[in-house]
Amino acid sequence: MINLTGKTALVTGGSRGIGRSAALALAKAGAQVLVHYGRAEAEAASLVAEIEAGGGRADKIGVDLQQPQGAHTLAEHARTIVGERLDILVANAGIATAATIEETTVTDFDAHFAVNVRAPFFLVQQLLPILGSGSGIVFTGSVVANTVVPNLAVYAATKGAIDTLVKHLAAALGGRGIRVNAVAPGVINTDMSHFARTEEGQAYILGIQALQRIGQPDDVGEVIAFLASDASRWITGETVRVDGGSKL
Ligand SMILES: NC(=O)c1ccc[n+]([C@@H]2O[C@H](COP(=O)([O-])OP(=O)(O)OC[C@H]3O[C@@H](n4cnc5c(N)ncnc54)[C@H](OP(=O)(O)O)[C@@H]3O)[C@@H](O)[C@H]2O)c1
Repeated sequence: MINLTGKTALVTGGSRGIGRSAALALAKAGAQVLVHYGRAEAEAASLVAEIEAGGGRADKIGVDLQQPQGAHTLAEHARTIVGERLDILVANAGIATAATIEETTVTDFDAHFAVNVRAPFFLVQQLLPILGSGSGIVFTGSVVANTVVPNLAVYAATKGAIDTLVKHLAAALGGRGIRVNAVAPGVINTDMSHFARTEEGQAYILGIQALQRIGQPDDVGEVIAFLASDASRWITGETVRVDGGSKL
């Protein structure tokens, strides 16, 4: 059993999909959760209400992480709520747009790296003063970092960068007692993966997975909660595949 009573957590992209599930799992384990969102304020508010109705503590914080100072602003807001101690950072917010090499624009390329790589890095930097010994950082990577899916080169490159950051940050922060890990989901049924909701998409996904169903946000959210908790206290610098045995 994971027990996060008395712990504070920030989940980026907590308004929808995998982040929402992670925020709920952390709250159910007893953590006070800051639910970060970009545009989906209503979804974030409804999650906060759900956590509070279950007896938990939660607040929402809206910040656009594509902005150069987005991570800095989010860290500042978070500190005004949790004060001098954050135990868990889940850097999960992300974007993915499929495009051929020819179709990819500089704007799209920069947006992917801004949200998926720059924001997680600077969030860690800006929150370091309040991440103490025993804290856990969890990034959301993807199996596409290590496999080829057509038209996802730029997105995949951002997730490759996450795998690299996990190793370097874990080494740099281990001496302070801070662990850094990532989950690498396969295809998960969220707004990001529309094709998981089509017949053709589902047939393709089941064809590459050992487990014969479509992955759901809770399949990943609970692993994120585990990696953020003391139950995984001897794991750091790892990217854990959460993909139903994907053969991609
Ligand atoms: N779904 C999959 O198959 C899959 C597989 C592997 C990895 N992943 C990764 O899992 C993570 C979560 O994805 P998901 O599937 O849950 O996607 P999702 O349902 O589309 O949710 C994306 C989340 O990121 C937030 N976000 C996006 N751009 C933002 C910005 N500029 N500023 C602030 N927040 C922003 C969104 O916030 P708002 O809606 O509030 O704007 C939302 O909460 C991502 O890092 C993704 O790359 C997903």
